[in-house]
Amino acid sequence: MPEQSFKFTDCKDKVSMYKTFLLQYAALIEGENDIISIMANTAAALKETFNFFWVGFYLVKNDQLIIGPFQGSIACYRIKKGRGVCGTAWAEKETIVVPNVNLFPGHIACSTLSQSEIVIPLFKGNEVIGVLDIDSDKLSDFDTTDRTYLEKAMALMMKTQTT
Ligand code: SME
Repeated sequence: MPEQSFKFTDCKDKVSMYKTFLLQYAALIEGENDIISIMANTAAALKETFNFFWVGFYLVKNDQLIIGPFQGSIACYRIKKGRGVCGTAWAEKETIVVPNVNLFPGHIACSTLSQSEIVIPLFKGNEVIGVLDIDSDKLSDFDTTDRTYLEKAMALMMKTQTT
């Protein structure tokens, strides 16, 4: 349902926003299985709903992460495993929340405006096939609520690849 609006006119708390987002998101991706297309609409929906500074995907290809669909300013093409926040989330197979990217060893600064970040690995079975990377221009912008609901959204997204 591409005509659906992801804008929130009333200023709800973050948990309510994520709950509404998940309902709309499930409808948005239902019936589609092309992962690049789904990622493109996912990045757009997240950007439009939460007004994130940068939101996008990196995909594992030839043992590197390579940029996929995103919303925001231009970003680096490739990230090695274990490098930066994205490469670390991939290597450790775990979501990473970074309150201050300037203090993260090896952080890859695609934009000097980026201050905090959350990266969620995408699983196909036990294998990481990419990551969702969200950057903020404010310090400490992500918490356990973001982690919980973004992980739920990514689990929903990856379910489109199992049927
Ligand atoms: N910050 C990321 C690099 C990607 S850009 O932020 C879009 C990192 O350190 O992994």
